[in-house]
Amino acid sequence: MNHNVKNICCIGAGYVGGPTMTMMASKCPHISFKVVDINQERIESWNDENLLKLPIFEPGLKELVAKTRNKNLFFSTNVKEAIEISDIIFISVNTPTKKRGLGAGKSSDLKWVEACAREVGKFSKGHTIVVEKSTLPVRTAEVIQKILNSEASDAKNEKSFRVLSNPEFLAEGTAINDLENPDRVLIGGEDKSAMRLLSQIYENWVPKEKILLTNIWSSELAKLTSNAFLAQRISSINSISAICEATGADIREVSRAIGKDSRIGSKFLDSGPGFGGSCFKKDILNLVYLAEYFGLKEVAKFWEEVVNINNWHQKRIAKIVVQKLFGTISEKKIIILGFAFKANTNDTRESAAIKICKDLLEEGAELVIHDPKVNPLQIEIDLKVKQFSDIKNESIDYPKNNLGNWKFSKNLNIFDNAHAVLVLTEWEDYKNIKWDHVAKKMKKPAWVFDARSIVNEDLIKKSGMNMWSLGDGSSKNDIRDF
Ligand code: NAD
Ligand code: UGA
Repeated sequence: MNHNVKNICCIGAGYVGGPTMTMMASKCPHISFKVVDINQERIESWNDENLLKLPIFEPGLKELVAKTRNKNLFFSTNVKEAIEISDIIFISVNTPTKKRGLGAGKSSDLKWVEACAREVGKFSKGHTIVVEKSTLPVRTAEVIQKILNSEASDAKNEKSFRVLSNPEFLAEGTAINDLENPDRVLIGGEDKSAMRLLSQIYENWVPKEKILLTNIWSSELAKLTSNAFLAQRISSINSISAICEATGADIREVSRAIGKDSRIGSKFLDSGPGFGGSCFKKDILNLVYLAEYFGLKEVAKFWEEVVNINNWHQKRIAKIVVQKLFGTISEKKIIILGFAFKANTNDTRESAAIKICKDLLEEGAELVIHDPKVNPLQIEIDLKVKQFSDIKNESIDYPKNNLGNWKFSKNLNIFDNAHAVLVLTEWEDYKNIKWDHVAKKMKKPAWVFDARSIVNEDLIKKSGMNMWSLGDGSSKNDIRDF
């Protein structure tokens, strides 16, 4: 086996592949990294000369790409060439929930992973370590090994493979810090020397005691379980927020009080509009599928409820907006602050904003959506409704029909004649809004709905507007007319 790793490639230049390889390249200048993707546009964006069009927004990423790109980090569409020269190949492609066929709606669609395994089997040379970086169902490594072997069986030259699991735990918005200072690095496998080799790459910057070596199935299952536990905390706190609203308790006080218990801990206890992102829902559903497959019905039901309550919670927010605005929002202008699934990312996958905005449009609302990083074309794709184009900058004159409309705004000069403001993403920009100015522009009675607990309630009340804050029972039934 080649113990001298010179070339590493990563198949998939997405939210994981791009930042992960950039971090590795910055920490391992003696190794050359190739990030390859079939999506030419994405690769062109990674190669954008002035770094203005990187395909993902992630604090600190641009600076790191600037340091490494075209030195020991290369972005390319030449998958074959990258595979041929690599000692280690990371597979970091998308693994969404299957839409059709066996396991539809729950199990992961592995067609992209299978395609990668076939290409690696075909084009690799000599001994190659194949690393699962994508989040995968338990025992996928076995499938990958079989595909690699069958593709390689026709080869004239000798090939061999070892498959390792090395799931990624980064969160979007904090990816660079998560990659630089991970809580742990998990390497699952059977082959000790392949595991050691991968561990040595991480040891260039991660303390050895943080690198956990497990069997391959534990590693695959630990990744799904981590996401399930994190999502479960959010569903738990969001379910309690509804009780707070009914009883007069305040979810922020409840979170603070329970988070002080060192057995519970304070992280991941912020009540919000429901968890989004590309992974929590898909990974829990994957776990549900796994449990069902093994006949563990009760286990499956337990985890499925985490997703069900999240769906219920997202619906609940749109309903509250309608109820507070006298039961109708038809032709009412509502300002949506934030469309990304969390702050500091341009990612909208599974964002709570999608469902909430769709529900408001269904009720005939006229939405003005602001987000500092999300591309309005992405919003169009997510809402499946074209942006209304004839809207003048500040005074919005929508056509009179019962279907809602939406328009994107790059700036925050959007409050004129609005009936309500709904905060859905916790961007810093929204913490400093001058609510006394805003109040003067809005229709009365004006409402601010804060689903992220970032707005200063005192300022809203001083400005004479009505405030609904998620999980704050103390403000219930508080309607004023100025
Ligand atoms: P992504 O959709 O952003 O990127 C995947 C990329 O793979 C795409 O650019 C796609 O074009 C490319 N691709 C697909 N098939 C290919 C092929 N055969 N050859 C070359 N390129 C191919 O996905 P992501 O968010 O980076 O997630 C990747 C995996 O990592 C998923 O399994 C996800 O569950 C997991 N994960 C994601 C995160 C996250 O924060 N996004 C965190 C941890 C783990
Ligand atoms: C999550 C995990 O945190 C990562 O460890 C994991 O690697 C990743 O999924 C993955 O496998 O894809 P991510 O989805 O990027 O990361 O972001 P999170 O910070 O976990 O937020 C997920 C959702 O939960 C967001 O919508 C966020 O707003 C929401 N959230 C988070 C809350 O509502 N409250 C909280 O206290 C924390």
